[in-house]
Amino acid sequence: MNIIVTGGAGFIGSNFIFHMLKEHPDYRIVCLDKLTYAGNLSTLEPVMDNPNFRFVKLDICDREGVYKLFEEEHPDMVVNFAAESHVDRSIENPEVFLQTNIIGTATLMDACRKYGIKRYHQVSTDEVYGDLPLDRPDLFFTEETPIHTSSPYSSSKAGADLLVLAYNRTYGLPVTISRCSNNYGPYHFPEKLIPLMIINCLHDKPLPVYGEGLNVRDWLYVEDHCRAIDLIIHNGKVGEVYNVGGHNEMKNIDIVKLICKELGKPETLITHVTDRKGHDMRYAIDPTKIHNDLGWLPETKFADGIKKTIQWYLDNEDWWQPIVSGEYQDYYEKMYKNR
Ligand code: NAD
Ligand code: DAU
Repeated sequence: MNIIVTGGAGFIGSNFIFHMLKEHPDYRIVCLDKLTYAGNLSTLEPVMDNPNFRFVKLDICDREGVYKLFEEEHPDMVVNFAAESHVDRSIENPEVFLQTNIIGTATLMDACRKYGIKRYHQVSTDEVYGDLPLDRPDLFFTEETPIHTSSPYSSSKAGADLLVLAYNRTYGLPVTISRCSNNYGPYHFPEKLIPLMIINCLHDKPLPVYGEGLNVRDWLYVEDHCRAIDLIIHNGKVGEVYNVGGHNEMKNIDIVKLICKELGKPETLITHVTDRKGHDMRYAIDPTKIHNDLGWLPETKFADGIKKTIQWYLDNEDWWQPIVSGEYQDYYEKMYKNR
């Protein structure tokens, strides 16, 4: 089996590559990544010498480059993680989100049509369903929940999902889609809530909580997401969407307080800042379908996963320090100064 994994130098894609090379040592994995600000080649260092692994620096929107790679590799499957992934950046500059997330997805699928493929898998997000109200804890996102997006990011991911389903119906492309809730774990880029709070805590810097911090996210340890995708690409039904989540809803403020507690830092570091525009209130996945159809269940409890994650950031400062001391500083200044 030869699999092209796009966006494999990012957070979830890299964890997926590690998972696949470990669980399927006879598979060939080709990582295609543009190495944007969010892609980090040092993350893939542990597998660079693996003879079953190849890294190719490429933009998924580069049609010529993508076709050439397909001609060289004849992949059996494509798993598309490549995306602009940060909601706050999409509010500042939507265009690159439309380019990569929509045009890039179409380009990859065109290559799949031209050269043939056993499976194209689109890594999507629960954000395509919009949000749920805080006062209706009985409501969850199912695969039938209507698409109803809030941010340029989620709209671009929803656009991609619609295209994927259209390529299945119109051209018979063998596709699957997974829509997962918030991931956390090793190699999570420092702009996102959990790593940002861990790293700020370690520097005794203010912890910028948007609004009152009452927004709810449904957190899943990244390895559980990788296992779900592994199951879907092998056993999932073509044309189907699978929601992935572990019933672990937490308010932002509670996560930040927990990180303070684990790191022995005072809660006085918490600073409430201007809310995100259009901020989604609550995400909550109903994972019944993937459980019933594919036997998937999350394995890592949040209490253990968050400890493991904090320990990983303590042990791997040489991974995140170069990131936070580079162009990230300009980003941080722009997003958080005078907020
Ligand atoms: P990330 O931002 O950490 O990584 C994205 C990767 O894609 C980077 O390596 C980047 O260099 C690469 N990339 C960006 N544009 C590219 C392009 N044009 N061509 C090739 N490579 C490009 O993102 P992540 O958090 O790992 O998310 C991966 C996927 O999972 C995304 O599609 C995202 O929408 C989805 N997702 C993320 C979460 C989450 O909680 N992080 C949850 C559900 C779904
Ligand atoms: O639900 C899946 C989605 O989860 C993925 O599709 C996205 O790619 C991923 O980035 C994530 O989106 P969120 O917007 O939920 O994640 P983020 O880490 O940016 O924010 C989590 C919550 O924390 C959100 O309610 C905003 C809040 N927040 C975030 C940051 C960065 C803060 O209060 N302060 C912050 O500094």
